[in-house]
Amino acid sequence: MAISRKILTLDEFTIQQYRTIPNATGELSSLLRDIGLAAKRVNVQVNKAGLADILGYDGTTNIQGEDVMKLDVFANNQFMNVLKHGISCAGCASEEMDDIVIFDDEISNNSKYVVMFDPVDGSNNIDVNISIGTIFGVYKRKSKIGGPCTKEDFLQSGINQVAAGYVVYGSSTMLVYATRRGVNGFTLDPSIGEFCLSHPDIKCPEHGKIYSVNHGNFFQYEDFVKKYITACQEKTKANGGPYSQRYFGSMVADLHRNLIKGGIFMYPTTADNRNGKLRMQYECNPFAFIVEVAGGKATNGKERILDLHPTELHQRTPVFIGSKAMVEELESFI
Ligand code: AHG
Ligand code: MN
Ligand code: MN
Ligand code: MN
Repeated sequence: MAISRKILTLDEFTIQQYRTIPNATGELSSLLRDIGLAAKRVNVQVNKAGLADILGYDGTTNIQGEDVMKLDVFANNQFMNVLKHGISCAGCASEEMDDIVIFDDEISNNSKYVVMFDPVDGSNNIDVNISIGTIFGVYKRKSKIGGPCTKEDFLQSGINQVAAGYVVYGSSTMLVYATRRGVNGFTLDPSIGEFCLSHPDIKCPEHGKIYSVNHGNFFQYEDFVKKYITACQEKTKANGGPYSQRYFGSMVADLHRNLIKGGIFMYPTTADNRNGKLRMQYECNPFAFIVEVAGGKATNGKERILDLHPTELHQRTPVFIGSKAMVEELESFI
């Protein structure tokens, strides 16, 4: 009898990875398994949206000044709780919480990592059945293991991430994560409830034909952005075009597509948002890490995103990210 090709599950893959690293303790594998578990729980609710009482606003406003959705709260609690109950995480911070959460119990205080996450990315799209996501970045603590984690652990540059990833709740549900060794994508097989390796060693194409930006803000953008967008519109067959404009309004969905197909995603400074809109620690750093490991680039227009030094939680930054050649062409207009 022919034996079918073995497809690795997320747990099998991460365990295999850590076995090849001398002195690894398996804590990162365990952390990724915890994140996978929370993602599965959120996925169940996302799939029931419209049937279960999970659509709509929660009635509160978050620290970002945004109206909170019920699913933002649900997902935030799921991720926070699996991280708290796991053995790898000393504390977490999220787009939806004012301050860091220090777990401060014996197991957590002996854990190596802290996690920053955006529980639901694309909240505005929940009620209209467009793909949404979750984004996370994992940092090794700076504080001493054995005691509680500190604010300093969360104010690290993105370059210090040991892993970063996202979940896209789309036509299928996928978890994609990067370590310095590579970017790998896992599709949720609902029949067995496991994330299975479907996209090994993802590389971001050096060139692309997709640009993703909120065109409604065009007249608020700085000149170099307007010039680049105009150049995108003017592309013809002769110089690598024509380009397509694609914008969901869910960073995860937009960047997942551009990572696979090639493209650039931009959230520039606007007249209303002088630092752009997207959050450095929950959105830009994880994606900058993933895209760079995949061969792409990420900048705020002046500096590499991963080199920025956050001074506070919830800091925002403009971002231009994606295929290397496209980001470099944008930079040529600055
Ligand atoms: P979130 O739902 O986590 O607050 O993030 C929303 C973000 C991001 O997903 C998206 O790219 C961007 O907001 C869209 O903003 P605009 O509607 O201003 O284009
Ligand atoms: Mn939000
Ligand atoms: Mn977001
Ligand atoms: Mn969010």
